[in-house]
Amino acid sequence: MDNNINNNGKKIVLSGIQPSGDLNIGTYFGALKNWVKLQNDYINYFCIVDMHAITVRQDPSVLRRRTLEVAAGYIACGLDPEKCALFVQSHVPAHAQLAWVLNCYAMFGELSRMTQFKEKSEQHSDNINAGLFTYPVLQAADILIYNAHLVPVGADQKQHLELSRDIAVRFNSVYGDVFTVPEPYISKEKSAKICSLQEPAKKMSKSDKNVNATVLLFDKKDDIIKKFKRAVTDSDTAVRFAEGKDGVNNLMTIYSCATGKSYDEIEREFSGKGYGDFKLAVGEAVADALMPIQKKFGELMSDRTELEKILKDGAQRASRRADRTLAKVYKKIGFLQI
Ligand code: TRP
Repeated sequence: MDNNINNNGKKIVLSGIQPSGDLNIGTYFGALKNWVKLQNDYINYFCIVDMHAITVRQDPSVLRRRTLEVAAGYIACGLDPEKCALFVQSHVPAHAQLAWVLNCYAMFGELSRMTQFKEKSEQHSDNINAGLFTYPVLQAADILIYNAHLVPVGADQKQHLELSRDIAVRFNSVYGDVFTVPEPYISKEKSAKICSLQEPAKKMSKSDKNVNATVLLFDKKDDIIKKFKRAVTDSDTAVRFAEGKDGVNNLMTIYSCATGKSYDEIEREFSGKGYGDFKLAVGEAVADALMPIQKKFGELMSDRTELEKILKDGAQRASRRADRTLAKVYKKIGFLQI
């Protein structure tokens, strides 16, 4: 089933990142690098989901700054604003409008089962607001409003995507084929999961309080090297990918992302060498890989007018498609058309 017109046969991709923390190498190697590969083959919508970010308390000036930084980060990492609509979620009001409608097709019970809700309720027990609870419904709106076919997400978002599919199917079963039922997009090379350098069983997180746990996209070379030096490993000495070696496995994944080398090649390169040499090599490889991104980022951030122009254009392109879907939904559910 396809609810899209004028696609030239191309499928639609949508994804988003919250401006709730500084961009780190987990977001780059785990997500952005893969989105860049998609941009020629699909019609792309990549948003900065500021409305999701306010489900936990944000400092207004920091939120504003980070929204621009994620936009600049998208482009610096290789997304081309000509090929992708890059936009801020709150600039396309149809997301919020559709989210309200979909709230009435999402069940209390299913939202209560979302693991991200349970985790965030624990982390922010003083602010378990309704937005945190209905967060996945807004995410469903982000996706369904473009009739996206594919949603590149990490494993932690699969449950939210499953819910988006359930809502789409439920709505379609009442009103006919309105929404495309989206699929998660898992890249062929299996997108990398980058973990915390301090607790390598946990995903690297934008909002980690321990500065040594994450490598920011815009860290200086010296800081990058220092953070890798402090990375948690194990009491073994060999650089090899194996069960129970989360820290080393994570460093090998990062090194592989930064250099393109396979795990076998990495094991050979460091056979007989210690963790000290290996960590230094990872730090240098990451710093080298980030250098061109940091340069481009700096240029973008120093030309705010141009960046705003890109976001305005992105929001306009996104709105065109989003408004069409919203109009169809309003009509189907019986809102008076005048
Ligand atoms: N919930 C996603 C995350 O935390 C962000 C997000 C919001 C998203 N809307 C989306 C991802 C739509 C994919 C599609 O990572």
